[in-house]
Amino acid sequence: MNEDEKMSLPAYNKNILCIGAGYVGGPTMAVIADKCPDYRVTVVDINEERIAAWNSDELPIYEPGLDEVVKRNRGRNLFFSTDIAGGIKSCDIIFVSVNTPTKTYGEGAGMAADLRFWEKTARQILEHAKSHKIVIEKSTLPVRTAQAMARILQSGADGISFEILSNPEFLAEGSAISDLEYPDRVLIGSGSTEKALHARDILVDIYARWVPRERIITLGIWSSELSKLAANAFLAQRISSINAISALCEKTGADVTEVAMAIGLDSRIGPKFLNASIGFGGSCFKKDILNLVYLYRFYGLHECADYWEAVVKINEYQKRRFLLNMLKAMFNTLAEKRICLFGFAFKAFTSDIRESPAITVARGILEERAQVVITDPKALAGARQEFAAEIERGEVTLAKDPYEAAYGCDAIAILTEWPLYRELDYREIYRNMRKPAFIFDGRNILDHSKLREMGFHVYPLGKPPLTDSGKD
Ligand code: UDX
Repeated sequence: MNEDEKMSLPAYNKNILCIGAGYVGGPTMAVIADKCPDYRVTVVDINEERIAAWNSDELPIYEPGLDEVVKRNRGRNLFFSTDIAGGIKSCDIIFVSVNTPTKTYGEGAGMAADLRFWEKTARQILEHAKSHKIVIEKSTLPVRTAQAMARILQSGADGISFEILSNPEFLAEGSAISDLEYPDRVLIGSGSTEKALHARDILVDIYARWVPRERIITLGIWSSELSKLAANAFLAQRISSINAISALCEKTGADVTEVAMAIGLDSRIGPKFLNASIGFGGSCFKKDILNLVYLYRFYGLHECADYWEAVVKINEYQKRRFLLNMLKAMFNTLAEKRICLFGFAFKAFTSDIRESPAITVARGILEERAQVVITDPKALAGARQEFAAEIERGEVTLAKDPYEAAYGCDAIAILTEWPLYRELDYREIYRNMRKPAFIFDGRNILDHSKLREMGFHVYPLGKPPLTDSGKD
């Protein structure tokens, strides 16, 4: 590029704006502010309460390490505000991290992404922008939405250019800060014009402050968007695959942990994401797969759509199977029994209950007319919201202390793999339960033979139950 061409490239200031202060926007911006002290980072959201929480000592989400990073940078080069218009005016680099829930109405209901918030954001950017902007798509969006964003932005701007980049998020809840600090890879998708590549390089330089250059992957914008959906679909598929194997293990007497270990040692397969469970939850997997399925159907690729849809179906089946196993083990009736749920979050180290399999299991138990007692170190607030009516009617009880929660119960179901559940004194818990006392380990985290020795009837997942020594 000669000097004249360089001169014609837009200049961008070092102010970053993130629209959307949720699980992705908040932690990501905190880490960018931490690593790039010369940038000023502002996170905006329409939700005043959420912004107030980001500005307080009680952050709106729980993530190990998040408090420290936020407190270290807040008020220095990290700000949280509700002034979206002001933010758009003063910042030249804009991350869009608004939520894209699954559509609940009209065409594609239950499958396609609801782009209302996202489109509103694009229009707000257009309305308030007074200088050249780089707009970075951080929300998970259906492939080719970057193009739609470009169309909206280019529709009315006079003398202002917008460069759209795709920078999908791969952080997992519960390990967001370390995923952000040490990512496996960062994807930056862009167009191929000189201006697009210039914008891309600015974002590459931001990440290169702390991410080794070879882990920053630049690619086409549509490949980048599709990679996010495909990565989540592959991960979810592994879980449904091992869960399908777990069902067969229970019938044949094989042990799913042994099988997972055996297949994970194949270096082509690898050991991660092979833990059989009561099913995957969280805000991404189901939503992203359904998005993918919608795309396939849109393009008439129905065989492929069916293939991916089966991953979600197996997940639903696994939750139902867990419930039916409980029912069968407890003499085909749960009515008037008390079942204690150890864990309610969709996985350990998060307070998030979105799509948590615990919700489905709890609802199934309630339908069988049993009482449910829920304990969880971080997710009781979510459980209180989810079951407000049932709590009111006395069908669901919440207890912070697991010993108190299990007191007088007929069964414990381990639903979240919080390490603290390994450390409990199960002898004492057993003493205070109704007999016969059952444990259903939906995460396979406990020492099953020890529990059996204490007298529990133990039902691990994907391995033979331990119930036959005659003790009660
Ligand atoms: C996921 C992706 O990992 C992340 O890259 C993406 O950006 C967002 O979606 P997250 O939903 O936070 O992250 O959690 P993840 O750790 O992937 O777990 C998802 C679900 O799968 C949890 O319910 C978890 O308990 C379950 N799981 C995971 C299993 O049942 N077995 C496993 O072996 C691994």
